[in-house]
Amino acid sequence: MPYSDLERIQGLKVLRSFPLSRCTSFRIGGPARCLVVPKDLGALEDVLEYMDRQGLPFRVLGRGTNLLVSDQGAGIVLSLAGMKGVDLRGPSVGTGGYWELTADAGVKMQVLLAWSARSGLSGLEDMAGIPGSIGGAVRMNAGTRHGAIHRVLSHVRLTGPGGSKWLAASSLCMGYRHAELPRGVLISAARLRLSASSRGEVYGRVRSAIRSRLETQPLGVPSAGCVFKNPEGDSAGRLIDMCGLKGRTRGRAMVSRKHANFIVNTGGATATDVAGLMALVRGTIMQATGIELKPEIALWGEDIQDILG
Ligand code: EPU
Repeated sequence: MPYSDLERIQGLKVLRSFPLSRCTSFRIGGPARCLVVPKDLGALEDVLEYMDRQGLPFRVLGRGTNLLVSDQGAGIVLSLAGMKGVDLRGPSVGTGGYWELTADAGVKMQVLLAWSARSGLSGLEDMAGIPGSIGGAVRMNAGTRHGAIHRVLSHVRLTGPGGSKWLAASSLCMGYRHAELPRGVLISAARLRLSASSRGEVYGRVRSAIRSRLETQPLGVPSAGCVFKNPEGDSAGRLIDMCGLKGRTRGRAMVSRKHANFIVNTGGATATDVAGLMALVRGTIMQATGIELKPEIALWGEDIQDILG
């Protein structure tokens, strides 16, 4: 594997045998054979062009908050965590009176929220307490029951081996925890439209959203948030709770006692533990209700995908 060629790309950090457990909120995952971290758009475009030319397969990592990585690790992983530019502009012609906040994919959702709250700008309060990056949030249309990121997203910058292009958010056909991305490109930046409000009001809404998350979700413990999507018209957490699965363990992984759709790493859990527990939960719900729960988290690795069937 010609990693030395990668090392020659300007603005690119190349880390060999890097433990992915350090990059995931689950604190689980074997090593990436090679973790590459571009610091800016130029380095990202160069690395994508290089990978394409060499025919090298790779995976894209945001902030690792909605992800289960195999204990075997992964091959080449492209981390967007180094891309952290933010730009805020006041209303101008064509923005419909909105402020525009443009952020590189690696910027943490909570950093953007703090930025907008400080500026008295409203629109991101629904995202209060949601971990991860803006790129990851757009990729899966992250959100809560009150709303998802697509409500304020105006444009996305897509980057591939041929360069970068800004497109209207509507081209991603976003739905519940879903966005459609053309093949071979990734989301490298997002532009959000926010409306002028007051700091006090924005902070008030953020505080109340965080308070209710703290009351109902196991936020201090390593997890990947909700592991299953809500089935239409129902809640995965409610169904799992109803089937008496709270506190159920597999190895060091446990169905949270606070919110049944969270699996927590109680210390030293493996990906196999988590996948085994997900399979058990899914099987139990299927038997009891006939409903098939679908994973909300991304699963990296054939071994864990096999466990889930
Ligand atoms: N419920 C239970 N037991 C539980 C958990 C929930 O009975 O252990 C019941 C609740 O009492 C409530 C219903 O299920 O009546 C819904 O629960 P909740 O309000 O917690 O919302 P949710 O549908 O489980 C969704 C998102 C969360 C988001 C919350 C809050 C999904 C899969 N989950 O959860 O997102 O934080 O709403 O808005 O869409 C995530 O994406 O990682 C995530 C956690």
